[in-house]
This record gives sequence, C-alpha cells and structure tokens, in this order.
Amino acid sequence: MTSAPGNPPVPDAVQAKAEALRQDIERHNFHYYVQDDPLISDQDYDRLLQQLQDLEQQYPELVTLDSPTQRVGPLADTLFTDAPHAVPMLSLDNAFSDDDLRDFDRRVRERLGLEGPMEYACEPKLDGLAVSLLYSNGVLQRAATRGDGTVGEDITANVRTIGSVPLRLRGQQVPPELEVRGEVYMPKAAFETLNRSLAAAGEKTFVNPRNAAAGSLRQKNPRITASRPLQLCCYSATIADSDSNENSALEKSHYKLLGLLKGWGLRINEDVELVQGIDACLDYYQQLHQRRDQLPYEIDGIVYKVNDLAQQQRLGAVSRAPRWAIARKLPAQEVTSRVLAVEFQVGRTGAITPVARLEPAFVGGVTVSNATLHNMDEIRRLDLHVGDQVMIRRAGDVIPQVVKILAEHRPADAQAVIAPRECPVCGSAVDQPEGEVVARCSGGIYCPAQRREANRHYASRKALDIEGLGDKVVQLLVDQGLVKTIAGLYHLTVAELLPLERMAEKSASNLVAAIDASRQPVLHRFIYALGIREVGEATAKALASHFGTLEALMAAGEEQLQQVEDVGPIVAAHVRQFFREPHNQEIIHGLAQAGVQWQAAQRSARAESPLNGKKVVLTGTLSAMTRDEAKEALEALGAKVVGSVSAKTDYLVAGEAAGSKRDKAEKLQVEILDESAFLHLLSQRDGSGD
Ligand code: IVH
Repeated sequence: MTSAPGNPPVPDAVQAKAEALRQDIERHNFHYYVQDDPLISDQDYDRLLQQLQDLEQQYPELVTLDSPTQRVGPLADTLFTDAPHAVPMLSLDNAFSDDDLRDFDRRVRERLGLEGPMEYACEPKLDGLAVSLLYSNGVLQRAATRGDGTVGEDITANVRTIGSVPLRLRGQQVPPELEVRGEVYMPKAAFETLNRSLAAAGEKTFVNPRNAAAGSLRQKNPRITASRPLQLCCYSATIADSDSNENSALEKSHYKLLGLLKGWGLRINEDVELVQGIDACLDYYQQLHQRRDQLPYEIDGIVYKVNDLAQQQRLGAVSRAPRWAIARKLPAQEVTSRVLAVEFQVGRTGAITPVARLEPAFVGGVTVSNATLHNMDEIRRLDLHVGDQVMIRRAGDVIPQVVKILAEHRPADAQAVIAPRECPVCGSAVDQPEGEVVARCSGGIYCPAQRREANRHYASRKALDIEGLGDKVVQLLVDQGLVKTIAGLYHLTVAELLPLERMAEKSASNLVAAIDASRQPVLHRFIYALGIREVGEATAKALASHFGTLEALMAAGEEQLQQVEDVGPIVAAHVRQFFREPHNQEIIHGLAQAGVQWQAAQRSARAESPLNGKKVVLTGTLSAMTRDEAKEALEALGAKVVGSVSAKTDYLVAGEAAGSKRDKAEKLQVEILDESAFLHLLSQRDGSGD
C-alpha cells in the first residue's frame, strides 16, 4: 500500500485496478485514433473512463499527469509562455511545377553522387498548425507551436485535450527522450459541424478548417479547446542519442520511423507512400490532386522527403529549409479579389440572392468571377462594400464563397450594399416575412425572372429533360415574350422560333419535336418539374408513389401530405399552397389542355394498404407463417408491430392458442383478426388487386 499524509492509503488492489483501467483506456484510444478501428462503443469507453475517475476521486493520490482523466486540466499559467526548440523547426522550400520537382531531384542526386532513382516518401501536406511534442520516458511533457522556428509558444494544456495525442506512449521500446513533430488540424466534416453549431448559438464562425484549428489552440481556457474536434497527425521525430536506445537499428529510414511512431501510439497519415524515382512522385501528385476533395482533411500541397535518414543527414539544410525535402504546392483554394459590383438575382421561387461580381481570380483550379452572397444578413455579417478586397474560397465543387473582407484595404469610395425594395427584374414589391432571411419578389409568374427559371427548371435534365431547351434558349423565349408559363412551351411553332438568334430551320423543328415528345411524363418527374418549393427529386418520387395521381396529390390536405415519408409540416405547407394558388391551377389546366398527360404512378404497397400507420399486436401461432414473417409483412405495409395490447392498438392478430392478450383486446374492444381475416387484410395491399 502507498499513502501520503492526510490521504487514505491506497490498497494495492485499487492501485492495480486503476492501472488496468488506464491501460485499457489507452489501448482503446490507440484503436480509435491510430488504427481508426474502435473495439468498443463510445458508451462503453465513457464507462471505463468514469470508473477510473471514480477511483481517482476516492484516492486522489492515484492521479498522475498521464492519466487519461487528466486531459483537461485547470487554467495553466505556462500557457503561451516561451518554448525554445532544441532542434530548430524548419520550413520547406516550394515547388510550383513538375519541372521544379525534377530540378529538386536532380540536385539531390548530384549532391549525393547517385545515378539511380532515389527513394522518396510522399506525404499529404496537411493544412493545420505545426506542433512539437516532447516525451520523457514516454510521458508527454510539453507541446509547443513552431513560432519563429527557434522559440515557439507553450500550448501543452491545450494540446493535452486532443484525443489523438497520447499522454503516455505505449509499447516496450519507447526512447527516454523523444521529440515528435506533426500537424494539428480540424477534419473537414468536423469543421462543418462546428461552424453549424457556432452559427446556431449565434457565435462567430470560422472561415476555414485551418483558422478553426488555430483559433481552438489559441484558447486561454483548455476546456474550450477540449470541446473542439482537433486531430494530430505526426510526420517526423528526433530520438535523443542514448546508449540504451534499442531503436537505432530500426530508424534508418523516415518511413520506418513513422512506423515506430505508430507503434508508440502516435497517429500518422495512412496516405503516405514510399516511391522510387521522381516520375513516381509526379504520379503521386496527380493521384492525390484528384482525390483532394474526397480527403477527410484539407491539404495545401504534397511533401516529398528523401527516405534514407543517413542521406538526409548528408544533404543537410540551408537557412530555414532542409535540402532533403520539398513541398509541391496545389492550387490555392483561397485567394484575394475585388468586388466590382453586387447584383441581385431572382430565382424560380422569387428568392432574391445577392451575387458579388469579382475581378477574375484563379482559385481552386478555375477562374472565378462571381461568388454567391446568400442573403442580406450575410452581407451585413461580412460588412461587405462594393470596392472591397475580399478573400474568396472555392473548395471542391462548391460554389465560390466570400469568406471575409480585407477591411484594411477598403478604398475611400467603397459603396455600401443596399437591399432592393423592388424586384430588380419586374419591379414588384419585395417581401421579407418576419423572421426569414430570404427576401422574395412578389411578382410570381408575372416576373420574367421567375418565369425564366420556372421554364428552365421544367426543361432541365432531372425534370422533363427537353433537349435543345437550354438556359440560353429559355432566356430568349421569355425575353421575346414567346413563352410565359410552362404551358406556353407546348404552343410554340417553328415559325415563331425561326427569328430567334442562332435558330435554324432544323434546330427549330427539333426543338418543337422535343417539346412535343415530353407530353407524357412519368408522374414523379412531372411533380418535380412543377418547381414546388422544397420539393426535390426524392420528395417528388415519394409523393408520386404515395398518391398515385396528380389529382389525388392536388386534393391532399396537409395532414395527408405529412403521411408521406420524409414530408414534414414545412414541405406539406408548400405543396398545399402551391396547388391552392389559382395561377398554378391555371397552368396545370393549361398543360392538360395542351395535351400533356402525366401518367399515374404505381402506388406503393404501403400507401395503399389499410394497415398503413396502424398498431398491430401478434399473439398465438399462425399456420401460414412464422411470427417474424408476419411482422415483416406487416411492417412492409406500414404497420407498426407492438408488444402489448392497449387502447391505442388497432388490431390484434390472434393465431392458435391465443391467451391473455386476446382477453385484454376483448376487454378494450380492439378489433381481433383470426388468421384468415389477417391474410385477407395482407392481400388488400393494392387497390387494383395485383
Ligand atoms: S515536414 C523540415 N511533413 O508544412 C521538414 N511538414 O512548410 C518540415 N506540414 O510548418 C516539415 N504536412 O506544419 C512536413 N507531411 C508533412 C507536413 C508538413 C504539413 C507543414 C508543417 C510545416 C510546413 C512546412
């Protein structure tokens, strides 16, 4: 037993139990963070942690610095104090092209006097913050930022809260002194989630994952850092020279060193690859560039490192960068540009969206000259003025965004953006219902912009897919007044089309033929094509198979609409409102008059079944099927199978030898079905009888 003055002695068994729990927790940390393959549920993990916490509370002497319960410590006074680096933290030279990279390879081989291909480790260059972690006898002592490379800032208290940073290293051959370097970053998905919850709480959001990671590490209160989804990924280490160091044989290559780190419980990047020669390096670049948007983390380049550590040593470093490594840059996803104007676009449902016209800028691999500003709230949040320098961002396929303005560069003649009171296209009043961020033109189909968008949507690929009726043609048709509503499309003639720009005899007659061919749409496409607010493809399909005909859908009340899978009160209200609107009824009537015949859809078994939404209890033995089969059949028809009979039960299915449930059902006057009545009900799944 051990004891300290004033504390109860710690029984050996308790000591052993605490140690076993710690090892268990650390093992699970390793599987979760490093192997990416958790062995237990989060709940079970929390239970282990709670057990350890309870023990430590009872016997405070059990608490050690490296206990998994001690990740979030008290406010630390060492936070942000100077942290000198024993080995300087270098940066990397950049390569901007294949040629730059070939030059690098040539220089390396020349210096080493080698003819053949070099072995390189290729690594994603994570876009986060460099950190240095010091471990003594396997226990984390200090975490620091890079700073100027010679002196950084102590961020131990904050880094300790990151789950993937081991407080104690695992395994047998942990060196007595170890410095690990790596990147702290925020995974893309976690960044999105964090921003959503910050926004919901009315707090300031972060512009990108890197800023989110930096902001989270810069917290004075480690508790806040602990709540942020940060990750560590290690990319290098220095093992202090020591006679007892058994690892020297293993650490001949960078790649093997990464393997050692992994074994000690440190997270490394699984996308690192070892290749021979510079051509393979270029292939790696192509490959990773293509995968960039699918990676769970943001990268701003690729790092190539000479794999052999002895060769690294021979190559050495110049000023601030090593000669044995280089970073190949990927196209920037954020660049600066200037706002030339802010224009307001009117969408299909009248929504008015401000759009920034920008000085063309190359970002995320394409030239961008517009960025959406979403709504006036966003303009106010950014404090955006026409003339401002702005940071724009385009990651993956997403629409370019303005992430912030560079306030210090605002020119004297910058203009504030004024929200339009009238629709910029038709002059109708702009409505903005209380509490909504979106402003809308009240012009409906009288607004040419809404008309154009409605027609464009109707003809689009996922809707009626009318060939030859692209954006430009639709614009011309609406501008020339040839088409007002979508019903008008069906009255177009070749003679009317011919005078239009770039419309020859053949294209005009092809277009008329294509419109003609769209006269018998399947119901779900037709519903989608109508352009009802909040009704996308999936909802249109669900509505079509639930109601079977447009007439049934048009007659449905909000309550009935909400019985459709995934249709909630908002969608139901929009659908109802759409069909109640006289001009929409007119359009649908006009379409029918023009010979458009939307086809009835196969109603889903579920929608058709008298069992849909009913609560059913099964009891006794059925001869035609097992209990499980009966349950499955019921559920397929939308019934809910429950265990016990109550006043809310709709049916009791009673097989042979039904007992107390039957008595209860009789008492509560729940309808009782014997096997043949049940089978009959199952067979009524479809009104048409098949
Ligand atoms: S090696 C001497 N490897 O890039 C070698 N750096 O400009 C120095 N970085 O501040 C770093 N991923 O934060 C290396 N796989 C990787 C990296 C990486 C990201 C960052 C690092 C450093 C900067 C170098």
